[in-house]
Amino acid sequence: MSEPLVVGFETSCDETGVGVVRGRTLLADALATSVAEHERFGGVVPEIASRAHLEAMVPTVHRALAEAGVAASDVDAVAVTAGPGLTGALLVGLAAAKAYALALDVPLYGVNHLAAHVAVDELQHGRLAEPSLALLVSGGHSSLLLVPDLSREVTSLGRTVDDAAGEAFDKVARVLGLPFPGGPPIDRAAREGDPSAIAFPRGLTGPRDAPYDFSFSGLKTAVARWVEARQRAGEPVPVADVAASFQEAVADVLTAKAVRACRDHGVDHLVLGGGVAANSRLRALAEERCAAAGIVLRVPRPGLCTDNGAMVAALGSRLAEAGVEPSAPDLGADSSLPI
Ligand code: KG4
Ligand code: ZN
Repeated sequence: MSEPLVVGFETSCDETGVGVVRGRTLLADALATSVAEHERFGGVVPEIASRAHLEAMVPTVHRALAEAGVAASDVDAVAVTAGPGLTGALLVGLAAAKAYALALDVPLYGVNHLAAHVAVDELQHGRLAEPSLALLVSGGHSSLLLVPDLSREVTSLGRTVDDAAGEAFDKVARVLGLPFPGGPPIDRAAREGDPSAIAFPRGLTGPRDAPYDFSFSGLKTAVARWVEARQRAGEPVPVADVAASFQEAVADVLTAKAVRACRDHGVDHLVLGGGVAANSRLRALAEERCAAAGIVLRVPRPGLCTDNGAMVAALGSRLAEAGVEPSAPDLGADSSLPI
């Protein structure tokens, strides 16, 4: 199928996304979010997210189609995130996408959320070089993927063994009295701070550690202990220095492991994705280290890095073009869907 018109549904976490693409051209990316409803809990509450998806779904579909300027009868295929993510949240997207595909009598593609984070880059930078490596870092995942063929073969090289990178940003922000989600305020505070002020630990970087896995739990605890010690001693907490030193530790480990994985696998293209890819220090350090290692770095604009429907539509379009078999009508949600 050439240049298929695809509608993508994304509901794996707190964003209700409906995107429309034709081939690799982005036509619409409608989004609703329940992020404000989770703020007072300091993290996403699954039940609240599911209910918010239910309320937002139909209006978001209408908005996406209007924005794209297409009629429902023009749609060639529907794609939906089948996992990983929050089960209840995924089920809302699946129910909507199935109903839509059935009503329009078009194929349905259940896609992996992580692969969709990679596919979205094609909407901005064109066809992905294959093989590529992808570093995906968000509130829900931190993964290094090897992408020999985005339509048929994506393999996981490593992932976080505890917290996701974004989760660490959110928890450290809480310790520092900054708002949720913590990434943006830490990024801002860090601009005024010294990244070498405090030597926070770099998780899983020892010679016997898994080379491509990540761990941010120890770092998060180290920051909390450091701040508590200051407070106990009645001394002021240098928020900017803590933010900058913490952010440096995260960006250092992520970029070092990504570049190492590229080198070990003979890959010279790296894609960043996920909400944490909006981090200014991570972007700068990735650029610096990739340039030094002769790696071409591709980073989608921040609006495409965070969860959205366009990324799901982008991958669906890829699958339709490649002639991949659509999903069966009994496609289910899988909260820990392997890549
Ligand atoms: O991809 P995303 O919108 O949703 C998930 O799938 O989780 O990512 C949200 C995460 C949050 O943890 C947020 O703190 C983090 O991305 N984030 C950032 C920045 N902007 C968002 N982390 C670091 N620096 C940023 N500028
Ligand atoms: Zn995501």
